[in-house]
Amino acid sequence: MSDNDLDDLLKLNRSWAKSMVDADEQFFTDLCDQQQPKYLWIGCSDSRVPAAEIVGLKPGEMFVHRNIANVVPHSDLNCLAVIQYAVEVLDVEHIIVTGHYGCGGINAAMEKKDHGQIDNWLAHIKDIYRLNYDRITALPDPEDRANLLCELNVSAQVRNVAKTSIVQNAWREGKSLKVHGWVYSLKDGILQDLKVGIGSAGQLHDAYRITAELE
Ligand code: CO
Repeated sequence: MSDNDLDDLLKLNRSWAKSMVDADEQFFTDLCDQQQPKYLWIGCSDSRVPAAEIVGLKPGEMFVHRNIANVVPHSDLNCLAVIQYAVEVLDVEHIIVTGHYGCGGINAAMEKKDHGQIDNWLAHIKDIYRLNYDRITALPDPEDRANLLCELNVSAQVRNVAKTSIVQNAWREGKSLKVHGWVYSLKDGILQDLKVGIGSAGQLHDAYRITAELE
């Protein structure tokens, strides 16, 4: 990338900021005071899945965490800090884990190939692949296999969000908080609800509940 490319970005930024102020003179002034997003989005870093843009939301309207293949590991301090801030400070009512078909991370996790350090991150997805190996490999089409693993990954990460002490404590306090699982299609830009959402600790396996109060 040349410096000219970066100059272009800065120019595009100026025209974007101007268009926002042209539409609403108070836009940035209001945003400086506070952010009140209702949603936390946990999605893939893929540049083709720009979180707020594909649901038509403006700055201030969605809190976002992205990493390769939208994974929520139990001990990822980065992701946990985002979830804690979103739930305890911003009071979001919806956490949406969004995967996408055609995800390079999902495809790489299914390959018997050395990708370097990233294979350690993708091991979280390899675990899901291994747990569902017969079901996935029974599909003859490689694209169908990847799509199924993509959906199973979303479902697993929804459960991982719900298993956190942060989300379970929010439920214990009576907060309205639901974790949803969606998938995005690069082919047509459409999001689908995979109907794997969790809205109470009762939907988790007994082993994961942090207190007997949460039945
Ligand atoms: Co991806």
